[in-house]
Amino acid sequence: MDICSVRQDFPILDRTVNGRKLIYLDNAATTQMPSQVLSAYSQHYFSDNANVHRGVHTLSDISTEKLESARAAAALFIGAPSPECVVFTSGTTDSVNTVARAWAENKATGDFSVVTTAMEHHSNYLPWLDLCRRRGGKLIEIPLGPDGRLDIDALKDNLTPKTILFAVTYVSNVTGSVNDVKKLIDLAHSKGVPVLIDAAQAAREFPISVSELDADFLCLSAHKMLGPSGVGLLYIAERHFKELAPFRLGGGMISDIRDGTPVYEEMPHLLEAGTPNIGGIVAFHEAIRYIEGVSRGYITERETMLTSRLREMLSQLQGVRVLGPTDNVGSCVSVVSNRFHPYDAAVLLDKLGVAVRSGTHCSIPCHRAFGVEGSLRFSPAFYNTEEEIDTAVDAFDRVLHILGRASGGLS
Ligand SMILES: Cc1ncc(COP(=O)(O)O)c(C=O)c1O
Repeated sequence: MDICSVRQDFPILDRTVNGRKLIYLDNAATTQMPSQVLSAYSQHYFSDNANVHRGVHTLSDISTEKLESARAAAALFIGAPSPECVVFTSGTTDSVNTVARAWAENKATGDFSVVTTAMEHHSNYLPWLDLCRRRGGKLIEIPLGPDGRLDIDALKDNLTPKTILFAVTYVSNVTGSVNDVKKLIDLAHSKGVPVLIDAAQAAREFPISVSELDADFLCLSAHKMLGPSGVGLLYIAERHFKELAPFRLGGGMISDIRDGTPVYEEMPHLLEAGTPNIGGIVAFHEAIRYIEGVSRGYITERETMLTSRLREMLSQLQGVRVLGPTDNVGSCVSVVSNRFHPYDAAVLLDKLGVAVRSGTHCSIPCHRAFGVEGSLRFSPAFYNTEEEIDTAVDAFDRVLHILGRASGGLS
């Protein structure tokens, strides 16, 4: 597929920032939306808008049909056995919190633990820390080995009969490190422990089949896979349906109230109280169609090529340390150095039209594991070009020299 025609689908890539052509390398935070997704969103509100599941009129039927066909497409996209396993949420954060409140809350009794890792985004860390603090359990953080990958021996030692859940990311949003989630799930299951996979960073780049993985829960966000913000997905394996208790109560999730007692709807409506983000879900469906249209293979191939080029070039810059493993990594590269503060570097790069992320990227435990306070993260998507990578690294080199001079030549 021709990259020029792919880029034409993303009009925002043609804009300028601070008088320079934009080079957008903050895709781990949010990806851009192709025109097809933007059109699906606006078209919905131009011509089909109505509330779902509640009306009998034509527009309500159309909106309901669009929402349910998005659910069916999302289920296929993640290899779920049925659309009933897919709950629409507002994003990965909401999905993880939903598992914590609707499922783990009931399991969190007595002397229990939740196992998570030093590699997690705060979304897959804080809900578990909170649960353990409130219910007297222990949060266990699996450390990283010297290679920046999960310490599997520590994991083996800490999955015990007390563990109610192992919550782990598929791809680190700091180092890009890809976990062998199939192996992790098999290991946890062999000890009777269910597993939640945070697929926020993986969903665009890697094919996912929850059935093959035998995942218990899986979470992702539409805005990291060419869709809009405010939409996400939570997969729950059918074997856990009976263990769910709704925690968000309201319209759409009950079928009756008998003698003062609510009769709850079945999954997935049980966990979808209130009016969903209908236009966002319709646009998410279009994002799935777009990804399938360009093909996952194309996305993986381009992102692997762009990221290895970037990693290679950044690691050759004097005094710059690339965090984490060098192979089997997803589409982000984080760097640190005593030559710059990540914030200063990101601000100067922005002046040169290059959008990157600085700070902890909502992953303080991960930065602590590397003994640093923060980093500068470059994260390409398949619509970036080799020229953009080269220009961004050149710009970064310039920034290093400017900052080196400003701080008295720390290099
Ligand atoms: C690995 C990972 N998990 C969770 C999240 C949170 O996603 P959201 O803000 O869409 O809820 C992110 C966002 O950066 C992430 O990278």
